[in-house]
Amino acid sequence: MPDRTRPVRIDDVIAVKTIEDSCFPSPWDMDVFVTLAGSEGCITLGRGKQVSMRVIENNGNVAGYVVWVDCSDTSEGRVLNIAVRKNLQRRGFGRSLLQHVFDSLTERGIKTTTLEARESNLAAHRFYERMGMEELGRVPNYYEDEDAITYSITL
Ligand SMILES: CC(C)(COP(=O)(O)OP(=O)(O)OC[C@H]1O[C@@H](n2cnc3c(N)ncnc32)[C@H](O)[C@@H]1OP(=O)(O)O)[C@@H](O)C(=O)NCCC(=O)NCCS
Repeated sequence: MPDRTRPVRIDDVIAVKTIEDSCFPSPWDMDVFVTLAGSEGCITLGRGKQVSMRVIENNGNVAGYVVWVDCSDTSEGRVLNIAVRKNLQRRGFGRSLLQHVFDSLTERGIKTTTLEARESNLAAHRFYERMGMEELGRVPNYYEDEDAITYSITL
């Protein structure tokens, strides 16, 4: 399947923040998205670490986005954030975003990736399972008010 994603741009940030606010009880600050967009969707940190952000469009508008970090030194990736505009969910946008992350990590020689989801976020659990990820365990009080379930995949 062709990659339908592209790096985040500064003019995406308002749309991204609108999706973020509508999807999460504790949304990320705008600053994070501005910083990533200002760096063309990729920030290189020390020790082989890289943070990336891409968006996916529907009819020229941002439909969703994904943010992940990978570390070539440890050969690990971690999905930090993924969301699709509510009225565009269940149309394959999330799958395209996460598949991009898996492909990009594979290209960089990363072998495993993990992520956390709220215990109550059943849609996310079904989505990650459908993407071939496996439940790894629970992190008590990972969120202020809730445990996290950790998922992992070997690429
Ligand atoms: C999780 C999320 C990113 C999935 O994105 P999406 O674009 O709706 O997912 P897709 O359409 O690519 O779904 C792929 C498959 O995942 C599964 N899936 C996705 N959403 C599901 C749901 N609500 N219930 C059951 N299964 C679901 C299905 O098997 C689906 O395939 P199908 O539609 O052919 O049955 C989206 O629901 C979302 O943005 N949620 C709010 C933010 C969020 O919770 N992010 C995750 C934080 S951990």
